[in-house]
Amino acid sequence: MEKLVINGGKKLSGDVKISGAKNSALPILSAVLLAEGKYLLQNIPQLKDISTMLKLLETLGVSSLQKENDVTVINTENLELFTADYELVRTMRASILVLGPLLAKRGRAKVSLPGGCAIGERPVDLHIKALKQMGADIEVEHGYINAKCNKLKGSIINFDIVTVTGTENIMMAAALAEGTTVIKNAAQEPEVIDLARFLKGMGAKITGEGTKTIEVEGVSELKSVDYSVMTDRIEAGTFLAAVAATGGKIKLLNCPVWAMTSVLEKFSEIGLKMEVSEDSIVAVMDKKPKAVDVTTLPYPGFPTDMQAQLMAVMTLSDGLSVITENIFENRFMHVSELKRMGANIKLKDRSAVIKGEDKLTGAQVMASDLRASASLVIAALAAEGESQVHRIYHLDRGYEKFDEKLRALSADIRRERE
Ligand code: UD1
Repeated sequence: MEKLVINGGKKLSGDVKISGAKNSALPILSAVLLAEGKYLLQNIPQLKDISTMLKLLETLGVSSLQKENDVTVINTENLELFTADYELVRTMRASILVLGPLLAKRGRAKVSLPGGCAIGERPVDLHIKALKQMGADIEVEHGYINAKCNKLKGSIINFDIVTVTGTENIMMAAALAEGTTVIKNAAQEPEVIDLARFLKGMGAKITGEGTKTIEVEGVSELKSVDYSVMTDRIEAGTFLAAVAATGGKIKLLNCPVWAMTSVLEKFSEIGLKMEVSEDSIVAVMDKKPKAVDVTTLPYPGFPTDMQAQLMAVMTLSDGLSVITENIFENRFMHVSELKRMGANIKLKDRSAVIKGEDKLTGAQVMASDLRASASLVIAALAAEGESQVHRIYHLDRGYEKFDEKLRALSADIRRERE
């Protein structure tokens, strides 16, 4: 196991290039199951979650090769396989994304039921209910979702809760279904739009992506396509949070500005000065962060995936802020660790009340999930003295070369073996 050792208190400065979006690459990699052939995919980030997905695809008859110039070559070869094993699914919940494509293309899917995780129960009942509505025969037995169908049928799917991967799973399944599927209360996330663009390149007929109602007219066949995945709005937001906490001046390159409106508004309220162009942001922080309240919501609201990082900034704000988490029931695991660094936070139901302190002090802390890890790194960068962030395998699941990129921004951060 590895840890990060951080000497805090240094202002960040320099340029950082944002990587491909994990949450876009994962559904796009699942969608290759919908058509045989060769795909050249650009901007697939090199992350643990991506290598897990590529391993899972391999067990489903899809080979991959990482080429130079950031190109991943994918080849779908064996269309007979349909089982996503517990061993892989348990390490990454997004494995559920292969369910829709397998069922639509191969008529059969056996996907391990993802368990709970640190941030909440995270059921997949809505994925299953929607696919049943489209005519799939689904049993949950021995820890597996066992699904069969002759041909999926277009249907009106009205999601009770906005679900990102649920919307993506149904959009992929519907692309090869008979007739038209209307997805109501669909997720409007930018990654859903990116997946729709990829599917359209494959020949799918989709309208309404990015709105609450998506319509998919099934086609009998799709074809492989080359594509460049969008860049990561959460990674970009994480670097903004880092400079908001430490002070300094950084420039984000390859930044998906179009997908970051609510996050940019919030950072502007905090006092981060930003010069925003189409795909870059120069961010300057030269004062104490202003205390702000925030509530996480489905897109276009403030993302739950930025909640922990924003909280790290608020621990150093000039007043009292309230952060309310609406998406996941248990996404405050970072709170007790931030407190070990001197943060003043009280939890009440789904809200955290944070009183900004003058300083944080370095400490040994433990990462519990992906975004919580980023929050602890941000706090450590701003804290006085040395911190050690343990269990950083969570961080490596979702941030490409995070420590390397921070070092290039003048942070004093190194990776060591435990
Ligand atoms: C995706 C993102 C994750 C982000 C989350 C919310 C990917 C790979 N992951 O996760 O980074 O934090 O969106 O923006 O894109 N729910 C149900 N039943 C279901 C499905 C979901 O009750 O069948 C609930 C969940 O428990 C949660 C809420 O719906 O409370 C939203 O979850 P969802 O949007 O599905 O999250 P993911 O797609 O898993």
